[in-house]
Amino acid sequence: CGIIGYVGKKPAKDILIDGLAKLEYRGYDSAGIALLNDDDTLTIKKKAGRVEDLREMCSDDSPVYRSTCGIGHTRWATHGGVTDVNAHPHRCGDVALIHNGIIENYNDIVREYGLADRLVSETDTEVVAALLDTLYDGNPIETIRKAVKAIAGSFALCIMFADRPGKIYAVRNVSPMIASYTDEGSIIASDLTAIISFSKEYFVVPEYHILTLSSTGIKVEDMKGNMVEPEMLKITWDITAAQKGGYPHFMLKEIYEQPEALRNTITPRIVNELPDFTEDGIDDEVFKNLENITVVACGTAMHAGIVGKAMIEKELKIPVNVEIASEFRYKEPLINEKTLVIVTSQSGETIDTLEALRLAKRCGSKVLSIVNVKGSTIARESDYVLYTHAGPEIAVASTKAYSVQMAAMYLIGCRLGYVKGIYSEDRAKAFIRQLQGVIPVIEETLKQADEVKTVANYIKMAPDAFFIGRGLDYTLSLEGALKLKEISYVHAEAYAAGELKHGTIALITENVPVIALATQESVYGKMISNIREVKARGAYVILVSMDEEYNDKDVCDKHISIPKQDGLFTVFSAAVILQLIAYYTSDAKGLDVDKPRNLAKSVTVE
Ligand code: G6P
Repeated sequence: CGIIGYVGKKPAKDILIDGLAKLEYRGYDSAGIALLNDDDTLTIKKKAGRVEDLREMCSDDSPVYRSTCGIGHTRWATHGGVTDVNAHPHRCGDVALIHNGIIENYNDIVREYGLADRLVSETDTEVVAALLDTLYDGNPIETIRKAVKAIAGSFALCIMFADRPGKIYAVRNVSPMIASYTDEGSIIASDLTAIISFSKEYFVVPEYHILTLSSTGIKVEDMKGNMVEPEMLKITWDITAAQKGGYPHFMLKEIYEQPEALRNTITPRIVNELPDFTEDGIDDEVFKNLENITVVACGTAMHAGIVGKAMIEKELKIPVNVEIASEFRYKEPLINEKTLVIVTSQSGETIDTLEALRLAKRCGSKVLSIVNVKGSTIARESDYVLYTHAGPEIAVASTKAYSVQMAAMYLIGCRLGYVKGIYSEDRAKAFIRQLQGVIPVIEETLKQADEVKTVANYIKMAPDAFFIGRGLDYTLSLEGALKLKEISYVHAEAYAAGELKHGTIALITENVPVIALATQESVYGKMISNIREVKARGAYVILVSMDEEYNDKDVCDKHISIPKQDGLFTVFSAAVILQLIAYYTSDAKGLDVDKPRNLAKSVTVE
């Protein structure tokens, strides 16, 4: 979910709705705002649907829109279906609030405080509004303090009390929130995209601290009432980075930004032609001491970890275990102080990943995170951070963040090999040259976009598709299949090409699209045999390989070539092809590419 609050000199409505439009990638089931006027009136406008529907709903010239104090929310449903009533803000008596997170003990609260009769929605959030209204004794801070003690779970809350015009109160646990103030007023939001047009300076709202926002500034106090001076951070990227810049969708823009994103991630870490993390504050001792690695992440970030595992195990013979964060956190993981845990996350806020990080630290492992968002919770809680510099990624389907995560894994692998003496200096330098070489190769690969479009026109008609490959190609196909499923709703499966014959080949029938990756020289012959197997069963084969020409009808129906390069590095350019396949298929189906149904970019619930 996305949350925003503003109090200042300007009318709040447009600031809130514009902010919500930027936060919509965090959830877009429903949207709403609450405005507080100086005459103690609270007005709520909310509905199921997109932010633009809300804008339309608020387009009359009612005097309530003169309010300069308000909160807004865009929802990704967890508790309760997608309805107008369940949309935020929620109001109970004199309290209006918005919430991101999950209140785990809402049932207990309802029972203990006898709130059942006061609730009209099915949300856990409304319970907090009712609790606050019940506890409210005219002292907002004290009331919030009591309420926070009563609730368990993750939450980012922005609260207004009807009799406190010009004030927004906020508190959080786990769920992210950042805040900023200028001469124009104070603003609070889930993330930077919503405030960047307002200010270039911000602070991360500390957990379990209560904020009071007013037109003259923000007061931050801990739970005991001690005032706290938050540490101000600077936004280093430009507002244009969070806009489409002429592209029809953010996803396409972000696909095309990959050369630059990779350059920004790789270049600052090269010193004397070798990978070097001195500037990142990562000590070589971390690498010297480790015996094995565990990568923990979710979704696309986890897939980047699988590529990293294949590369590191192949090159360095160091065992790498990749774990899905939501599984890892509920088991007794086989890690210890000799394990380096690499936590990978674009947003740095994914709750499952964050909890996995905390568990890893409790087990005595050092945690190195690969994170894109500066100052995010995962970055702050890790022992070491390797920031990827992809810039803001707005499309829900991750593209450039995936590439830079892979690049970060490659940089780590190379430094590790060098520090442990597995790589000679020459080998490490050659590796780095090849890694830098993927940037122009991607630029070249992007020229294949029109070829990919024709493939997409075929895939869009299919109910299912398969992605097959061997070795690194297989690890990449996992992401290819996920991307297609996520945004085009074509069911897809990634399969190790040699495993198909052990069952799944039964599903390959006439005209089923099979996207076959064949960029690994050592298994190329085997891969071609696997392709022939599916072709013989009627598959429509789209071959992605390094051969410039491939018109052998026996082997494939469509060939997409990527430039010649060492097989260890083809994942970068082949990833671009797979991203374009997903993008153009979704677009050809007329779907909302940037906002696929039921997905949110940053999942801050468990
Ligand atoms: C969500 C998104 C995925 C993303 C995953 C991990 O589920 O829809 O695209 O890969 O979270 O996100 P993170 O920010 O931790 O990389």
